[in-house]
Amino acid sequence: MKNLLHVVGARPNFMKMAPVHAAISAETPFRQKIVHTGQHYDDRMSAVFFEQLDIPVPDINLEVGSGSHAVQTAAIMQGFEKVVLDESPDLVLVYGDVNSTVAAALVCSKLQVPVAHVEAGLRSRDRTMPEEINRLVTDQLSDYLFTPSQDGDDNLAQENIGPEKIFRVGNVMIDTLVRLLPRARQLDPLPDLAREAFGLVTLHRPANVDDPRMLTGILAALEEISRKIPLLFPVHPRTRTNMAAVESGRSDHRLHVVDPLGYLEFLSLQSRAALVITDSGGIQEETTYLGIPCLTLRENTERPVTLMEGTNVLVGSDPGRLIEEVTAILSRGSKPAGIPDLWDGRAARRIAAILAEKLS
Ligand code: UD1
Repeated sequence: MKNLLHVVGARPNFMKMAPVHAAISAETPFRQKIVHTGQHYDDRMSAVFFEQLDIPVPDINLEVGSGSHAVQTAAIMQGFEKVVLDESPDLVLVYGDVNSTVAAALVCSKLQVPVAHVEAGLRSRDRTMPEEINRLVTDQLSDYLFTPSQDGDDNLAQENIGPEKIFRVGNVMIDTLVRLLPRARQLDPLPDLAREAFGLVTLHRPANVDDPRMLTGILAALEEISRKIPLLFPVHPRTRTNMAAVESGRSDHRLHVVDPLGYLEFLSLQSRAALVITDSGGIQEETTYLGIPCLTLRENTERPVTLMEGTNVLVGSDPGRLIEEVTAILSRGSKPAGIPDLWDGRAARRIAAILAEKLS
């Protein structure tokens, strides 16, 4: 009997693991355990996702909490090394590009335990982003690279990763969206606001929220935009802390700041929004699937398929450009867009089928 470990730690990991865990459980005889590193620990960043996505309670929680990148990565490695020695897994699955992903992959490579990377091959080519370093290193160390789109395969080939390790399976995050969209649509979160057209905002990248001048400029632009269309802004803890220092003090706007939302509440609002303004990775993909215009406050993206085929537009770090693009969407609507190949709700089943064949 093969033993598999899933390693997750931060909010965007949970919706990627949920369908993979379910598909492996339905379609293979393998035993599975879930390791939560504790990178995200607030209930609103973690526990609510396990409940809403029907993920079993983690078997092991490393409770590493916050810290600098080195402190956090090292704490995950120390804790996870003991887990791997105790459990002797036949395969470890890691997700996305967070510190938990690279830390687990490093531990496995030293102990010669095979690693499967779900959401492999994405590249922004911006090495100032910690996530890009995490993606590059994790892919070099992985034995199974499950990619969401053709650009992922091409990037891995350019980095001399053997074709026998690369499997294009589609987008597991979209599996979760497809499954839960009907349930999300039945919710009516924040009915007062959702009665009229509204925009949805998320921001947490260090480049946008750690520099007070940048954050002040973005918030001023959001306040101005909210005079045309009300904006709902569920705030990540990192951003909340930084916003306290730069409050504008003005009240003649309709920028509504709320605590982080659960998966279903956020998806419900996303599916009804007139537009989304974000610096997240996953939200660029979800808006593309939903056909909702997305303005991404970054100079680059590791998800170019959302620009070429989807509804995403990069607005960079210029608040003036953000205001112009919102005005254009409000007058002309979204650009023509479609759904990328294999973003069909079945990616995790493809992963389970591949693992069933390879590990038997
Ligand atoms: C992490 C990921 C990022 C992902 C994001 C989604 C890395 C390098 N970054 O960024 O790719 O898009 O998660 O949310 O792994 N905090 C809390 N409560 C929590 C978690 C965090 O208060 O439950 C605060 C802490 O002050 C912490 C800060 O947020 O220092 C940042 O958390 P951290 O996990 O280090 O990185 P994120 O910015 O969340």
